[in-house]
Formats: sequence, C-alpha cells, structure tokens
Amino acid sequence: MSDLHSLIYVSTATHLMTDAELETLLQGAVEQNNKNDVTGVLLYNDGDFMQCLEGPEHILRETFKRISRSSRHSGIICLFDEKISKRSFSDWHMGYAKTSKSQMLALSSAQWKKIAEAPLDEKKESEGLILLRDFWSRR
Ligand SMILES: Cc1cc2nc3c(=O)[nH]c(=O)nc-3n(C[C@H](O)[C@H](O)[C@H](O)COP(=O)(O)O)c2cc1C
Repeated sequence: MSDLHSLIYVSTATHLMTDAELETLLQGAVEQNNKNDVTGVLLYNDGDFMQCLEGPEHILRETFKRISRSSRHSGIICLFDEKISKRSFSDWHMGYAKTSKSQMLALSSAQWKKIAEAPLDEKKESEGLILLRDFWSRR
C-alpha cells in the first residue's frame, strides 16, 4: 500500500497578513514542498488559514512540525489526518486562494472524517474533501 497521507488544518494568523506577506510565505512553502514532494492548497480569509497537505507520511509529519512552530499563526486545529489513496492537488506544490468568510466557514465546519473501519479504497470520501476540491475547481 502506498504511504500517501493527508493532513488538513485550520489556524489563525497572529496578525492580518498583507498580500506581500502571504506571497513571501507561499514562495517559501512552494520551495520546500517542491523538494519534499508535498502537494496541497493553502486558503486564507481575513486572518484565518486552512491548509491541505499531501505526501509521504513521514515527510508530512516533519512539514507539519515546521508549520506548527511558525510564529505567523497559532490555534492550529487538525481536521484531517489520514492515509489517502490518491492526491487531490497533485499539480500544486502549494496552490493558494483567498476565500470568502462563508466559504471558509463551510469548509472548516464540514465533516472531515471518513468511515473509520472501511478499507482505504472503499472508504467514502469525506464531505470536507469533496467541498475543498469543489471550491478549488471553481475558484
Ligand atoms: C500558514 C502557513 C503555511 C505554511 N505552509 C508550509 C508548507 O506548505 N510547506 C512547508 O515546508 N512549510 C510551510 N510553512 C512553514 C514556513 O515555510 C516556514 O518554515 C515557517 O513559516 C518559518 O517560521 P516563521 O514563520 O516563524 O518565520 C507554512 C507556515 C505557515 C504559517
């Protein structure tokens, strides 16, 4: 079985980020993720972040540690921490989009857990992941 994993979290910026600060943050993330085979998307609205990370589990754990230590945000809540059978954002070493307040609310309050006991390839996709991909394809 592949070692593909996904981590999805929400967090709060320690101050409202300017577009230039977001751009710098994203550039650093893309550079790291290119080296580490990590893909995903980063969403931002008015001080709220949501990020989806995909990649080999041990690399994701290291990446998440680095992200968790960043002084740029706090209050990290992990919504999804599971094996996945394929990537949803394989072309993005970190896609970025701003959301509206209501989109961020819908995404962060969606159901993220899959049916726990089913084998990976039979698990129903979580509502959150379906919403996230839908948001990304219409952005
Ligand atoms: C919202 C957010 C998203 C991040 N995304 C990634 C990422 O996708 N990959 C990565 O390697 N690091 C990521 N980082 C970590 C930064 O690249 C960088 O290592 C970290 O922000 C440095 O710590 P500092 O912000 O305290 O200077 C992220 C950090 C934040 C705050």
